[in-house]
Amino acid sequence: MKAIILAGGAGSRLYPLTLVASKQLQAVYDKPMIYYPLTVLIASGIREFCLISTPADIPRYKTLLGDGAQWGISIEYREQAKPEGIAQAFLIADSFIGRDPVTLMLGDNIFFGGDAFPRAMEDFKGGATIFAYHVNDPERYGVVEFDASGKALSIEEKPKQPRSNYAVPGVYIYDNEVVGLAKNLKPSARGELEITDINRIYLDRGTLQVKRLPRGFAWLDAGTSTSLQEASAYIAAVENRQGLKIGCPEEAALVRGFLSPSQFEALITRMPNCEYRDYLNAVLEEAR
Ligand code: DAU
Repeated sequence: MKAIILAGGAGSRLYPLTLVASKQLQAVYDKPMIYYPLTVLIASGIREFCLISTPADIPRYKTLLGDGAQWGISIEYREQAKPEGIAQAFLIADSFIGRDPVTLMLGDNIFFGGDAFPRAMEDFKGGATIFAYHVNDPERYGVVEFDASGKALSIEEKPKQPRSNYAVPGVYIYDNEVVGLAKNLKPSARGELEITDINRIYLDRGTLQVKRLPRGFAWLDAGTSTSLQEASAYIAAVENRQGLKIGCPEEAALVRGFLSPSQFEALITRMPNCEYRDYLNAVLEEAR
């Protein structure tokens, strides 16, 4: 399984912050937003990544993440010249995907709790797997409707009259057919290649699995100044209570065995003296 992280877009809702760095590079409490989805994917066992962003932001991601070798992973970069839709990611990353299945994750989606994603990736046999999360404001998202037995009946993008409260979060697992499907997709009325149209094709074919995320699971929005601040406060509250960090790629790489304890230690020694370094030292001590 390979992974694409989509981290472009106009970022207009966070202006003027986004004049100097894209939304997914902004801080969510103590680390850049992109660390959170990246960590979820590393913790799910993925080692090969393609990061897609704007031509202006790609150099900034390279400064932050490099080629991934420091975490025992590889990261390739691809430019999206204009935000022409989430499903365009499969066209841009075609040569990266090759013949493999692929998980697409949106760089501004922050999750906390449980092992739903690693389990879904381990169990993945083909077709597509997406997720559903109960929200208060489904009209802002892709919305999935279920029948009484829990089977998905329909998926709509930002419906004015949502048929359920279940929104589709930005984590999508596909077999290799997704590339061909994206190539044949027509832009929607808003001029984008819609991920919801891809999901609807899998639904119509009977090969879409929709897994409901449990109540105790957190999916945070960080798309506006207020929600960004709320996401930071949530992460701070949980981290400071537990003394454990959320969205720490180094820790996930150690736990997954992508880094040996000695490689992890070498990584720490290259960091300046800071609270993040102290945390990683404590992680290493506990692991030994
Ligand atoms: O967050 C989950 C939702 O994401 C889903 O429920 C929706 O079905 C899906 O369409 C999407 O809705 P959004 O309204 O949140 O999409 P938005 O245009 O804000 O894009 C989501 C992220 O992807 C955002 O961080 C920017 C990035 N993006 C988006 C587009 C359209 C790109 O990098 N390139 C793009 O072309």
